[in-house]
Amino acid sequence: MITLNINGKATRADAEPDTPLLWVLRDTLQMTGTKFGCGMGLCGACTVQLNGEAIRSCSTPVSAAVGKKIVTIEGAATDKVGKAVQDAWQKLDVVQCGYCQSGQIMSAKALLARNRKPSDQDIDEAMGGNICRCATYVRIRAAIHEAAKTLA
Ligand code: FES
Ligand code: FES
Repeated sequence: MITLNINGKATRADAEPDTPLLWVLRDTLQMTGTKFGCGMGLCGACTVQLNGEAIRSCSTPVSAAVGKKIVTIEGAATDKVGKAVQDAWQKLDVVQCGYCQSGQIMSAKALLARNRKPSDQDIDEAMGGNICRCATYVRIRAAIHEAAKTLA
């Protein structure tokens, strides 16, 4: 048994240390908001925050998350930055099919937590690893600027 800090709560999970964090979230804990895309760190669908940093949970062993703060999409809007991101996403109607969007939101939240006024280039750099097959990139960028305005 391991204990993880997920969205501010101590959560026990029965998992081997080398199990990817994504599987523990989705299969063991039934937290299915975090998505499986490629399983190889290439698409960003599985992005969560670990101590504030956006990481790919498909290629992070659960042992690397022990003792750190994990934030998933289920807890994303519980702080000021996450709420601003969620509101901007809704206001600009960013989502198309939605599959990539948990990861997009977690990467956007991590970006705005460290940079309250990101340029287009900052956004492209931070979001470059989050692929959207519906090509919502223009709305994602606009929503990040919108959230930054709210947070200013
Ligand atoms: S599922 Fe993790 S990066 Fe694609
Ligand atoms: S909204 Fe469909 S993959 Fe991004």
